[in-house]
Amino acid sequence: MIKRDKAMKSKTKGSVYLVGAGPGDPELITVKGLKLIQKADVIIYDFLIDQQLLSFAKKDAELICVGKSPSHHTMKQEDINKLLVEKSNEYKMVVRLKNGDPFIFGRGGEEAIYLSEQDIPCEVVSGVSSAIAVPASAGIPLTHRDYASSVAIITGHRREDGEVKFVNADTLVFLMAVANLERIIKKLLEEGKGPETPCILITRGTFPDQKVVQGNLGNILHASKKEEVKPPAVLVVGEVVNLRDSLIRTTPDIHCKFEADFPSHGRGNGSTLSEKL
Ligand SMILES: C[S@@+](CC[C@H](N)C(=O)[O-])C[C@H]1O[C@@H](n2cnc3c(N)ncnc32)[C@H](O)[C@@H]1O
Repeated sequence: MIKRDKAMKSKTKGSVYLVGAGPGDPELITVKGLKLIQKADVIIYDFLIDQQLLSFAKKDAELICVGKSPSHHTMKQEDINKLLVEKSNEYKMVVRLKNGDPFIFGRGGEEAIYLSEQDIPCEVVSGVSSAIAVPASAGIPLTHRDYASSVAIITGHRREDGEVKFVNADTLVFLMAVANLERIIKKLLEEGKGPETPCILITRGTFPDQKVVQGNLGNILHASKKEEVKPPAVLVVGEVVNLRDSLIRTTPDIHCKFEADFPSHGRGNGSTLSEKL
């Protein structure tokens, strides 16, 4: 809990849980995250959340989509912050459900600080970040003793100046990279990475329709245009990309193994997975 002592004195009725939903596959939410979804009075969720997760909500829970995709901002961040405060006055348990991990490029930090300033009890429940899970789902270990001893997670979409920040690490993982791909590649080449450096774009990672475009810094832009790559996608740059050819592929059967545990429609209608938890 952030500012637990202050929160005790808070006049608000409820608490806000900033919950990471994981990268996409609904099975990749944490046990704690799922339990909070089941108990929440209101769930304020983002665009990239798999809708199956919402089927675990109580029948009378209020569900509010606040959008947030690079091209489609349903609600401004300031308004989301205010909504969190408003709902914490109305309800006991507010779940703010966010893609991946709330504190990795998800503005979870901004929301937690705002709530803290308003003396609203707030707990952050970590999620599995796409920065790690999406490469893994495509068979790429971000570190390897022989190839990579450092990893950087970088945004491809800087608010301040639109510039791409260059960070030197053995493996580079770019989120929100699609719209700015040309600038990112240009910057990496300018900073000394060779055009033969391996890289890969993984779209809708961990979902059944995950796709990859693999190549190198010299050809990935052309390949991504040809394949019409669209967000959400993760760009991985570094020698580790080549390791995916040596790894055992995960099969679609394995991905779908637990699908039957999710209720196909309706809310809170007793999934076997939730009963087990
Ligand atoms: C606003 S950031 C949020 C990141 C999130 N907090 C996390 O930890 O994964 C959204 C970006 O994450 C990446 N992303 C999230 N889910 C993804 C997925 N299933 N497949 C590929 N990229 C994903 C994309 O780069 C997308 O543009």
